[in-house]
Formats: sequence, C-alpha cells, structure tokens
Amino acid sequence: MAKHDGGAVVEVRGVRRVYDTGAARTEALRGVDLSAVPGEFVALMGASGSGKSTLLHLIAGLDRPDAGSVCVNGVDLASLDENARTLLRRRRIGLIFQSFNLIDTLSAEENVILPLTLDGVRPREARRRAAALLEQVGLSGRRRHRPDELSGGEQQRVAIARALAIEPALLLADEPTGNLDSAAAACVLALLRDLAGQRRRTMLLVTHDPAQGALADRRVLLRDGRVVAGPSPDESRPPVPPSVTVDYRPAGGDDWADACAVLSGCGEPPASCRRSAKTAGINPAARLAPPGGSA
Ligand SMILES: Nc1ncnc2c1ncn2[C@@H]1O[C@H](COP(=O)(O)OP(=O)(O)O)[C@@H](O)[C@H]1O
Ligand SMILES: [Mg+2]
Repeated sequence: MAKHDGGAVVEVRGVRRVYDTGAARTEALRGVDLSAVPGEFVALMGASGSGKSTLLHLIAGLDRPDAGSVCVNGVDLASLDENARTLLRRRRIGLIFQSFNLIDTLSAEENVILPLTLDGVRPREARRRAAALLEQVGLSGRRRHRPDELSGGEQQRVAIARALAIEPALLLADEPTGNLDSAAAACVLALLRDLAGQRRRTMLLVTHDPAQGALADRRVLLRDGRVVAGPSPDESRPPVPPSVTVDYRPAGGDDWADACAVLSGCGEPPASCRRSAKTAGINPAARLAPPGGSA
C-alpha cells in the first residue's frame, strides 16, 4: 500500500491505466506521479488524448488504476470498497465537468441542495447553504431557474456552487470552460480560481489553454500518458499570451470585471460577470499577475 507524503491532499504514484476494448488496447496512463498539497492550484495540461481525464477519474475514485496507487487525504483508494469510495467522493471531492452535469428537472437551488440532502443535511440548513453559495457565484436572482433557463456560464456557476456545497478539500475540474464562450469562460475561471483559493482547498484543473494554465500555481504536462513537465514550480510556466493584456496595478471597484473583459477579448464584460465580481469580492487583477511581474 502506498504511503502518503505528509499533508498531500492528492498523491498519485506510478499509475497505469490500460483500456482494452477487445478491438483496441490503449495505454492511457503509463506510470504517472503527481501530488498536490492543501491550497495548491495545479493545472493538468496536455493535448487531447494525453490522459488528463483518465487521471482525474482515477483521483475521483470513479475508476481504478491497473497499477500504482492513488491516495486522497492520505487514504489509499484501493483500500476502500465501492461504497466507501462513493462516500469519500461525496464528502471530500468537488467535481466540475465541461458538460455541467446538472439535473435538468431541478432548479439551480435544488441542484445545489442535492449533495447536501444526500449527506443528511436538514432541508432548512441545506436551503440556507445553497442560497449562500448561489450568492457567492452571483446567481441569487436565478435560484428558481432550471438549467435550460440559464446560460452556459450560469449553469457552470451553479455546478461550481454544487461542487462547493460539501466544503470539499479537493476540487477537480475537467475542462470546465470547454463549452463556454470566451467571456463566460473568463468569468468562470476567475471565480473558480478565487473560490478554490479559499480555505486551503486544493484544485486540479484540466485545461489545454495556456492562458488558463498560467493562472495556476503549477502546471503538469501530460504527453501520451506520461508526465513530461512538472512538478517543479516554474519549468512549465507558459508565457502569458501576447493577445492578453492584464492590468497589474492594484485593483479596486470594477477592475475585476474589466480584467475579465480584457482576458476575454471583449470590450464590455457581461452583466453576470459584474454581478459575480461584486458578490464574490474578487480582485482578479492581482491574481492574474505572474510572480514577480507586477509593475
Ligand atoms: N473508456 C475508454 N475506453 C477506451 N479508450 C479510452 C476510454 N477513455 C479514454 N480512452 C482513450 O485513452 C486515451 C486518453 O484519454 P483521455 O484520458 O480521455 O484523454 P484527455 O482527457 O487528455 O483528452 C485516449 O487515447 C482515449 O481514446
Ligand atoms: Mg479529457
């Protein structure tokens, strides 16, 4: 059984995963090591097919490795049966997917309440917590809307609120902005960055976008099922793309929304972006600055 290194929230050692469909055999992961400590924001990068989602699924306990070990909060997932893994996922891990995975027939509020109810939280308390979370993601006014009555960016913010409902130690996000236009994507990412940074939450973000990767503390690059860059902090840091102009001055007022607009390349940030900036108290200009890069 794998030992965990003091305090790591995620510890992956020598993980292999082979998909054998009979017709084809794919070595999706060929011996991957990865760890993340409390409060760390790690971007998991790599081309399509490099094994990013497979690795995230293994860390979430949605799948099992063919070799190697995955520890979450010091617990080796292989030592848990199916029920215990489901409980660990429900109580400790927040999952955010590209396709939002909201329940269509439930309102935004009911979607956020669901994991709390599953965890035995009383209805009144669950409603109170859901309202606070929806306010945090700037969606107080959309509580009773069903997913099909919300924009993609709003649906993803509901999904983020739902993922946070259980106060997870670990947030796993698989290309969370993949289905969003650039303005909504910038808002969702800034929000995620801010919320993940609270309470020493660890975040693993799968993205193939260097601009998103640049926001992380550290980047891990996968190629053909192997880690080819990382884990040292700056070796895989991509340059901030030249098309992105970020104001590094200390921000106040509406600078967050402005930075959001700059990042997304549009002049005017969407109203929802401004709202979420206000309620979440986000100051992205500071956050977007590369280390040592402030003016
Ligand atoms: N359920 C599956 N069955 C067979 N092959 C799969 C399955 N899931 C992923 N793969 C293959 O494993 C490799 C890695 O996939 P994936 O982890 O989804 O990559 P990424 O998320 O980086 O795009 C790809 O070649 C993919 O086709
Ligand atoms: Mg994927």
